[in-house]
This record gives sequence, structure tokens and C-alpha cells, in this order.
Amino acid sequence: MPIVVLVSETLAVHPTQDTDDAAMPSLTSAEFDEKLVVLSGANGDERAGPCLGETRANEIGDARAESCDAPESHTGRRLRFGARNNNRASVFLKFLIDTFGLPVLRAQGGVVDVAGGVGELACRLAYCHQTDCVLVEPRDDVRLQWCLESRILPHLPMKWRERFTPDKGAQVLAQHVTHLQLMFEHDAMQHAELAHALRNCALITGMHPDSAAEPIVDVALQLGKPFAIVPCCVFPNSAPHRAHVRTHEDFLIYLQAKHPDIQRTKLAMNGRCDVLYYLAQM
Ligand SMILES: C[S@@+](CC[C@H](N)C(=O)[O-])C[C@H]1O[C@@H](n2cnc3c(N)ncnc32)[C@H](O)[C@@H]1O
Repeated sequence: MPIVVLVSETLAVHPTQDTDDAAMPSLTSAEFDEKLVVLSGANGDERAGPCLGETRANEIGDARAESCDAPESHTGRRLRFGARNNNRASVFLKFLIDTFGLPVLRAQGGVVDVAGGVGELACRLAYCHQTDCVLVEPRDDVRLQWCLESRILPHLPMKWRERFTPDKGAQVLAQHVTHLQLMFEHDAMQHAELAHALRNCALITGMHPDSAAEPIVDVALQLGKPFAIVPCCVFPNSAPHRAHVRTHEDFLIYLQAKHPDIQRTKLAMNGRCDVLYYLAQM
């Protein structure tokens, strides 16, 4: 059975300078075109790990707690459209660039990516777009260099792969990415380094951010910051202040109702793909 995957940054990428020193790719928004191809045996994400929501759902034995799995059709088959779920960072990044504009993100302090997992969005922003990113992720197995070399580099053109050296990759990551190993909660502004990043960033993001979804929205609105999140798990039993919010759709409606200017659309990927976003005064 062929698997539909989304391949990006393969044909549409070119260096900013045509010299041997041009190690870093740079994608303009227009160049950041995605191509759907059908491949068999696409690689899985061996380090992504289970969705925390799923784990918690199992732990608390709550059959209604929703996981990040793709929905099922009436025949019981998983619905799949657009990109495989493990290309979500690429799909999300394209949405961010199209919606918020790369020059704005770059010039106005970059991105705070909450619950960024292994750091794929952060690495893509840094390496492909020379854009700063603060990754807020409690996991202790975040290896940005591994992420860059294993998850991103293989999708870049041969010319760029040949130019890549681990030292150059490390240099770009050190320049653009900061990892804050902590949970993002409603008291985010109490953490000095995080508070500084939040005040100075252009955008706060969260792709499948588990329990961080509502704190991201609340903190961003409080600061008047643009945000984009793709909520996944609802945690119906562990958020008593929203006890009436039981389903994923309830959750989206609940979050969107926090401000009249929060918009909603779908990303071209399977699984939880509804993005809520707020432009603020960009
Ligand atoms: C489903 S994964 C998504 C990871 C990544 N955004 C992606 O799309 O591959 C959820 C991640 O959220 C992190 N996480 C869960 N709760 C969090 C919180 N309150 N603050 C920050 N990160 C959190 C977990 O450690 C996990 O890496």
C-alpha cells in the first residue's frame, strides 16, 4: 500500500550565495513550495515518541481523553490526506511563513516554539530560514544536531548536503536556537528567560502541544502576541476549569472563543490538523 508523504525543501531550495562558503540554505516564502509524492515505505519518526496525551489518557484510564491519532472513517480505516503526520513540522512551517511572513518573523525576534518535541521546527527555522527560535520543551532527549542531520538534511538538494559539515550545522544551531527545558504553563512569565523570549518574539507556536495549548493562547493574548497552535489532546479530566470541554471540537471552539480575532483553518496533513491562529497587531 503506497503511503502519501509530503516532501519539501527538495527542489525549491537554493543557497543565498553561490559560493562554496554558502553552507546555509535560505528559502523564500514563494520558494517554499510543497510537493506531494507517493512513496512506499516512508520513514517513521523513531524518536518522536508517543503523544503525551495518549500516555496520560491511558494512565488515567479515561476513554474519552482524545489522542493525536488520525480519525477513523465509518469503515474503521484511518483517514489520511495530504502529508503524513510525521511531516507536520514542514507543513506547519509553510503555514507560518504564508500567514505571518518570514521577514516579519526574522526581524521581530523569531519564534517561541512550545512543546516542539525533538526540535524539527526550530531546526528548520534556523537552518533553512536563518530565523531565531526558542524551543520550550521539557524532554531531556532533544538533540538538535541529530534532528538537523537526520530529519532535515536528507531532504535538501545534493549540492547542499555536500556543502554541509557538522561544524557549520552546529554553528547555525548555536546562533539561532535556544532550548529551554521546561513545561509551558500559565505561570510562564514567572520564568525569567522564558518571559524575556516571550516578550521579544514575533510569534508563539505549538504543534500538538499537549497540555500547553491553553496556556499558549492565554499567555499570547495577555502579551498581545501572535500565535498559531494545532491543538491535539483535550485532557477532559485534568482541566476542571473547562469540565464541559470533552471533545476535540469542543476544545477548538473553547480556545477560539477566547478572542474574536482568533482564526481557524486546516493544515494539509492527517491527524489533528486544525490550526488556531491570531495575528495580533502584526
Ligand atoms: C505530541 S508531541 C508534539 C511534538 C512536536 N511539536 C511535534 O509536532 O512533533 C507533544 C510534546 O509536547 C511536550 N509537552 C507536553 N506538555 C508540555 C508543556 N506543558 N509545555 C511544554 N511542552 C510540553 C511533550 O514533551 C512532547 O514533546
